[in-house]
This record gives sequence, C-alpha cells and structure tokens, in this order.
Amino acid sequence: MSILIKTAEEITKMRVAGKLAADVLEMIAPHVIIGVTTNELNHICHDYIVNIQHTIPAPLNYKGFPKSICTSVNQQVCHGIPNDKKLKNGDIINIDITIIKDGYHGDTSKMFCLGTVTPFAKRLVNVTREALFLGIEQIKPGNHYGDIGYVIQKHAHKHRYSVVQEFCGHGVGKDFHEPPHVMHYGKAHTGDEFKPGMIFTIEPMINMGKRYTKVLGDKWTAITKDRSLSAQWEHTMLVTETGYEILTLRAEEL
Ligand code: MF3
Ligand code: CO
Ligand code: CO
Repeated sequence: MSILIKTAEEITKMRVAGKLAADVLEMIAPHVIIGVTTNELNHICHDYIVNIQHTIPAPLNYKGFPKSICTSVNQQVCHGIPNDKKLKNGDIINIDITIIKDGYHGDTSKMFCLGTVTPFAKRLVNVTREALFLGIEQIKPGNHYGDIGYVIQKHAHKHRYSVVQEFCGHGVGKDFHEPPHVMHYGKAHTGDEFKPGMIFTIEPMINMGKRYTKVLGDKWTAITKDRSLSAQWEHTMLVTETGYEILTLRAEEL
C-alpha cells in the first residue's frame, strides 16, 4: 500500500484528533510526580479521554495491549505497560497518548523528569527532543523521508548516543499505523518524497548506550539490551504546500 494523501475534510479531522491527544499530555503533566504509579496515570488519562473528551484511547486492546496509554520508564524504550510501581526521584518517563476522534487518530508522546534527575539523563531527554525537531524541520514537499532519519541519527551520534532501529514512526489517520515506516536513521535524499496532505509521526527513541532492544515477557515492553537509559518524543505531522504543521503541538512548545 502506498502513502495516503489526506483530503481537506480528513485533515480537519486529524487536526482535531491531534489537538485532543496533545491536550491529554497537558492534562496529565501536574499528575506526573514522585510516588504516583503508572496505573494511576493510566486511570486519570483513560477517564479524561473517555468521559471528558468523549474520544477513544487507541492503545486499549490494540493487538492485545491491556491499557489506555503507554508509560516507558528509564531503560524502557517504548510500549511500557502501566503498573503499580511508584515513580521515584530521578526517573525519566515517556507517556505516549493516542486517541481516536471521529475515526481519526492523534498520536503524541513526551518525556517527564521526576524530581532531580542526573545531568546525564537530562541531556539524553533534551537531545532526543532536539532530534525530533531537527527531523520535523526536514519536512517540505521535495524533501525525502530519509532526510528525517539522517538528521536524527547525526544529532544522536554527535552526542555519542544510539538510535533504536526496531521501532519507527508511521503514517497515521483512519488506522493507528499506516504506510510508510518513518525511520529515525538512514541516508539523506532517500525514500519517498513528501507530498502535501501526507500525515505521519516522527518518534525517535535514543539510547545512552547501545541501540539494541529486547521485548519483555509481557510481549510489549521494549527495554535496552544493555539496560542503558532511553528517551522518546513524538509528534503527528502534516505535510503542507510550503512545509509542515505539527498537529499535536502543545502550548508549552509555542
Ligand atoms: N503510540 C505508539 C506509537 O507511537 C504505539 C503504541 S501501540 C500500543 O506508535 F499497543 F502499545 F499501544
Ligand atoms: Co506513533
Ligand atoms: Co505514540
């Protein structure tokens, strides 16, 4: 299947879905504190998504995923399952929100730092966010998907970090995961060209140690093989005539 070009009506719906996903991250921020469990965060998000937004939490029952959000702590790379363990001082956590509104998906994630994190962890979190935005800046008609991976990898390697290869960004719309695979590594000027109306995520996962990951016995939680810290940030992106629009932008990013 080739990369879908969204119609004006679909883009309008994706803007709404993206904004709602971003709203969940803004809503949950004050709750991400030392001593809270990821199950409690899951519960607060689920309640807000279902009862306040009247949207659908896309992860719940997606290919058997048991919760409404993904929470990936420290050496967890992605797809962490909320549980009853309390967050503690110095933890770094990614919260990944995907909602469905009017049949369309909005997908976004950000990192939170609990209390006083080490300067090393803070730097990993910041460099990963910088990598996401360097990737975003590549988006305009005529450039290629490979340009995203190229700049993300370059930025990670400059800081002696590694880029996870087993998980990537993805087209998003009516389906949670649509073509293409959006790689966070690779060569400039390769892959498909960006065309106005394409919508996809960029969601780099960057490790302090080696790039290798493994999936735990729960079939979901991906961790770094060497147990080094990992960070991830994600936005849903629209290709416009002149560049891009971030559909999941939060107020703090303006
Ligand atoms: N939100 C994740 C992504 O960015 C996917 C989570 S799949 C789940 O693609 F099943 F774990 F929720
Ligand atoms: Co995604
Ligand atoms: Co996501």
